Amino acid sequence: MSTIEKAAKALEIPFIREMSEITQHMWRNGWDERNGGNVSYLLDEQEVAQYFDLNAVLRWIEPAFPVSELAGRYFIVTGSGKYFKNVLDDPAGNLGLVRISQDGTRIELLWGLENEAKPTSELASHFMSHIERLKVDPNHRVVIHNHATHVLAMTFIHDLDEAKFTRTLWEMCTECIVVFPDGIGIIPWMVPGSSEIGRATAEKMREYHAVIWPQHGIFGTGTSMDEAFGLIETIEKAAQIYMLVAHHEIKQRITEQQLIDLAAAFGVTPRPGILSR
Ligand code: 13P
Ligand code: ZN
Repeated sequence: MSTIEKAAKALEIPFIREMSEITQHMWRNGWDERNGGNVSYLLDEQEVAQYFDLNAVLRWIEPAFPVSELAGRYFIVTGSGKYFKNVLDDPAGNLGLVRISQDGTRIELLWGLENEAKPTSELASHFMSHIERLKVDPNHRVVIHNHATHVLAMTFIHDLDEAKFTRTLWEMCTECIVVFPDGIGIIPWMVPGSSEIGRATAEKMREYHAVIWPQHGIFGTGTSMDEAFGLIETIEKAAQIYMLVAHHEIKQRITEQQLIDLAAAFGVTPRPGILSR
């Protein structure tokens, strides 16, 4: 089978298509230069069983730490060092379908990650974030990390206090407070790819759907690919507006009363401590 035929066949599988399309969208948005960014998508066993033999393990991969909380769970993940630009043309070379072993100490590869490729180097942040989000929302499914341009830029010039950062983003577009009433978590700058950054990110995920890594990028989560991507899109749009207006004289803005009115109209509860009342 040619690479083109192989890709076309893989893309008939809904979750492979979703992963391939979302990575392409992010690359086109300029958020995933080179191998920047990674995605992990929690799948149901029945969903996987429709397309794959669950007993056919291709190889085993050692995770950096045991993840017994995710034992028996299935994920499709992006590969480490893989370019989002290339996923659509070669899903099997750039994505992997994995299952966590029953004791949580091994990753069982069921499809993809061809030529000995490894899952993303940010697996610690992904797995630990899935564990925390599932505790607060059993419908949670998706973790996306990318290098959203304006979010990254904003972390150079805005105070990194979570309440202040969230408040500024809410003020940039009318619908922000409706999309992320729980605000934005921010961790200190840390070396990526480590268990430490995974722990720090996941700790924030107990309370937030999105976490910013200063001078690096963003993590967004959701119950579907659309929800996780839409959250990042909305935050990035607000950050873009901020970067466009930051050095200009502001003649009018969204007032605190308007933010309160918006929350009431859309039935959301803004995180306490961000608005003054
Ligand atoms: P990976 O290629 O290992 O997924 O790393 C990309 C990245 O964005 C690291 O933070
Ligand atoms: Zn990154």
